[in-house]
Amino acid sequence: MIKVGIVGGTGYTGVELLRLLVSHPHVELTVITSRSEDGVAVADIYPSLRGHCDLQFSVPDNNTLSQCDVVFFATPHGVAHKLVPALYENGVKVIDLSADFRLQDAELWSEWYGQPHGCEALLPKAVYGLPEMNRAAIKQAQLVACPGCYPTSVQLGFLPLIENNLVDPEYLIANAASGTSGAGRQANVDALHSEVSDSFKAYASAGHRHLPEIVQGLHLMQSPDQAKAKLTFVPHLLPMVRGIHSTLYARLRVDTAVDLQTLFEERYANEPFVDVMPAGSHPQTRSVKSSNMCRLAVVRPQGDDMVVVMSVIDNLTKGSSGQAIQNMNIMCGFDEDEGLRQVALLP
Ligand SMILES: NC(=O)c1ccc[n+]([C@@H]2O[C@H](COP(=O)([O-])OP(=O)(O)OC[C@H]3O[C@@H](n4cnc5c(N)ncnc54)[C@H](OP(=O)(O)O)[C@@H]3O)[C@@H](O)[C@H]2O)c1
Repeated sequence: MIKVGIVGGTGYTGVELLRLLVSHPHVELTVITSRSEDGVAVADIYPSLRGHCDLQFSVPDNNTLSQCDVVFFATPHGVAHKLVPALYENGVKVIDLSADFRLQDAELWSEWYGQPHGCEALLPKAVYGLPEMNRAAIKQAQLVACPGCYPTSVQLGFLPLIENNLVDPEYLIANAASGTSGAGRQANVDALHSEVSDSFKAYASAGHRHLPEIVQGLHLMQSPDQAKAKLTFVPHLLPMVRGIHSTLYARLRVDTAVDLQTLFEERYANEPFVDVMPAGSHPQTRSVKSSNMCRLAVVRPQGDDMVVVMSVIDNLTKGSSGQAIQNMNIMCGFDEDEGLRQVALLP
């Protein structure tokens, strides 16, 4: 058994970590932090955990957290920068769900997040936690930066096309839509039921913080002789709680005669959490709700030179907490799907 702590246990990714970790056979939950709910029983805030978790929230404390083997950060950006160095020094494995260690370029991070990078010294140690791209490095890592939710769905959709140099990398488009839990659990007028329900809109079309992260990932998929990938990314807000649907567009190279269905099936054949659906399918967000699966479908409309990939995930599972646990399993040598075998909730 490993001792596990969670910093930021009252948020949506925090409670999703709890939901999954309480039934993980190799995990003993020892610390769950919240500054606002210090001393309150976890099950009082989340009755879904009654009978599964008898811990109380406590304020983050490095001495207590340092007793853990693994600590998850389910906090807003900037928090892990401050607390991770002491834990890292003490040999604790850290899995950060926030954006703090996702971008390798500290200046770029500071441009997009509007504050100086608070922990440049640990950037070279941080491994980007997308197992389908980085499994070997994750296995050796002490600090893993979990991908954002949109970046997970977009990168998994583009990966087979980009790493095989099959599309024009300079004209990539991602239209992606997320449920409201993607914005976390703070009070926010834009996320009110009466603002969101029965409506659909784009937002942050001029630039979303996930754009540089996706582009960094696309560049890592490319060989050095290729023109650098460029992406137009437009996120949308869906009137539902969980789920992301990304529709990706790319222009195939003139000389491409590859069978895209077979390419995708072969690329993901050994991936426990990527399911390539049969030709002609349209994956639905509800087919992955509360599961760690990413479902993909690829199509070439009218046999033309445009390829369209549809990618669905649950933003709180494969898009954050489930993927974080997948990373923990890899880092700790457990079966990669341990604690993550749930079938999606339907209807
Ligand atoms: N929601 C998603 O779908 C999603 C997906 C992928 C990644 N993420 C990322 O995961 C992180 C958490 O997201 P979330 O949606 O769960 O957020 P959230 O619902 O807003 O929860 C944030 C948590 O962090 C704690 N916290 C806030 N400020 C803190 C501080 N200064 N020190 C220590 N703890 C602090 C809060 O508790 P107290 O204030 O009581 O301490 C709360 O438990 C974010 O960085 C987010 O970008 C979210």
